Amino acid sequence: MTRKNPVITIDGASGTGKGVVGHIVAKQLGWHILDSGVLYRALALAAQKHDVSLENEPALQVLAEHLDIQFKASETGDATVILLEGQDVTHDIRTEKVGNAASKVGALPAVRLALLSRQRAFQEPPGLVTDGRDMGTVVFPNADLKIFLTASADERARRRFSQLKEKGIDVNLSDLVKELSERDKRDQERAVAPLKPATDAVCIDTDKLNIQQVVEYIIKEYKKVFSIAQQ
Ligand code: C5P
Repeated sequence: MTRKNPVITIDGASGTGKGVVGHIVAKQLGWHILDSGVLYRALALAAQKHDVSLENEPALQVLAEHLDIQFKASETGDATVILLEGQDVTHDIRTEKVGNAASKVGALPAVRLALLSRQRAFQEPPGLVTDGRDMGTVVFPNADLKIFLTASADERARRRFSQLKEKGIDVNLSDLVKELSERDKRDQERAVAPLKPATDAVCIDTDKLNIQQVVEYIIKEYKKVFSIAQQ
């Protein structure tokens, strides 16, 4: 079966592995990837840069509408460089401080609305894999395959801790556990686009699975949906 501009959404809380898994699935399929959290993180950084309060919804809406962000392939071609107003922020956006600020701006309806069409514009041939919190529920409600990843709070904190360490970002594990649970609570309880599985999502508990196993699970689901013979 051929589908026009197919989409696979991967939603879940922080530390469920959706970013890493999404990139690998996109690479295997040769599809585009959108890490939607980058938009919220970049907006939080832009707010900081332009002295805009994280509670000032009208000003954040304007900032979101004009967000000057570019995604470029790195020189080696195996990573994405993120430019905010022409400046490389690939590393800066990954701190928990920025993640927390992103979750505050992400709770504002006007901000979410301002970023909606920008996210939908990533739906291009041959296909899109996208990860976030509301990809399957709000941004791409007609996605061909919706995945929702879960993992226990301890496991998510452990993964996030080693991920940040790997990126050279200094973190304290107990601070991280506290920050992650605050962020997840805010993401789950917000009035607009809260973190939750779409009714038609395939839920995968990743606690006992490694990255490759989660990727294989998703590829298997993809083959079912696209009627591709399983090997
Ligand atoms: O996925 P990531 O941890 O980079 O996202 C940072 C924050 O951005 C999340 O905690 C969430 O509040 C917000 N976000 C969102 N909707 C998305 C992606 C991210 O609200 N689709």
